[in-house]
Parts: sequence; structure tokens; C-alpha cells
Amino acid sequence: MARAPTSPELQEPLQLLQEEIDVLIRMTQSFSSFAALPPPRPRPLDLRQLLEEVCALYRHDAPVELLGAPGPPLTIEGDPDQLRRAFSNLLKNALEASRPGDGPVSLRVVDEPSAVRVEIEDAGTGIGEPMQGDALALGRRSSKPGGSGLGLPIAQKILLEHGGTLRLEPLPERGTRAVVTLPL
Ligand SMILES: Nc1ncnc2c1ncn2[C@@H]1O[C@H](COP(=O)(O)OP(=O)(O)O)[C@@H](O)[C@H]1O
Ligand SMILES: [Mg+2]
Repeated sequence: MARAPTSPELQEPLQLLQEEIDVLIRMTQSFSSFAALPPPRPRPLDLRQLLEEVCALYRHDAPVELLGAPGPPLTIEGDPDQLRRAFSNLLKNALEASRPGDGPVSLRVVDEPSAVRVEIEDAGTGIGEPMQGDALALGRRSSKPGGSGLGLPIAQKILLEHGGTLRLEPLPERGTRAVVTLPL
């Protein structure tokens, strides 16, 4: 679209307005994908393989080392597309919180009798307080220039619909641990 010439004193407010509009457009897009999230279509899947696929997506331009959780196949019932999305959101946050020189982002899979726990740890900027339940459901203002603030609500919605849970906790030294549980 052609733009009329702008007087210099209007350029800055217009620029700010455009940035606000961009944020709103991104939020609308995320909201509609949040609302339109279909119910999961579960099938047996190998959770370890799924996590490795998600890691492979991010590893090439990760700012820090990304350590997966290798091990024998671990079959759960779940919707692979949705679980990929939930774990991608968490992994993406961990990597976005990390700067070159920070410790690695690492995944851990703990196989319990009736549930499986996946922990994603980073040594990045950290969160002040633990977050779970409503604190994750409502979303928070994104601290990122291109962020929607809906990555965590979407991840939590997917995990709850799988009968699972999500919580984020600050680590004592530095960084954050996201803890996911999924029923076996
Ligand atoms: N691993 C993490 N380390 C530090 N801050 C985090 C982490 N995960 C989430 N956050 C904080 O929570 C906010 C919301 O995350 P999210 O819902 O994924 O939205 P977005 O990534 O678009 O900002 C982020 O902007 C960030 O401030
Ligand atoms: Mg995010």
C-alpha cells in the first residue's frame, strides 16, 4: 500500500502505533488458534521420539547446547501434533530465555508407575515465582518483542486435555524448570 508522506514529528508516534497494531494482530492470531484448538485425537506414540523430533527442530539455531533425553521407547496415548506443539512452546521459551554462554537447556524424562514426568531446564533469565494453574491459564504479558504471551496457556490447555499437568519453577541458582506430567 502506498503511504502518504509523513511529517517528521508524526513519524515516531506512527511507528509506535504500527508496533502496537502488530502486537494486536499477533495476539488475535494466537487467540484464534487457542480457541480453535480441537479436542486431542489420542493414539499410541513414543514420547521420547517425539521429544527428540522437537529438539531437532530447534537445535540448529539454539543459543546454548540443547540436551535431549535419550532412552528406550516410551509409549503413551496422546495427540502427536498437539503434544509437539506443547513441548515446542516450552522448549522455545527455555531457549529464548538463554543467552550464549549460559548453561545448556536439558530435557529429562522420569518414568513413574502411573505417569511420566518431563522436565525442561534452562539456565536463562528465570522467573520470579513458581507458575501453575490460573497463572498459566490466563497468560501474562510477553516480555519479548515478538511474543504473544499465549505459548504457556496453549501448552497448559493441551496438557490438561491429555490428563496431564504443567508447572514452572524458578531454579535456585539461575534459570527455570518446566515440569510436565502425563498419565501412562
Ligand atoms: N523458561 C523461561 N524462562 C524465563 N521466562 C519464561 C520462561 N518461560 C516463560 N517465561 C516468561 O513467560 C512469558 C510468557 O511465555 P509465553 O506464554 O510462552 O509467551 P511468549 O513466549 O510469547 O512471551 C514470557 O514472555 C517470559 O517472560
Ligand atoms: Mg513462548
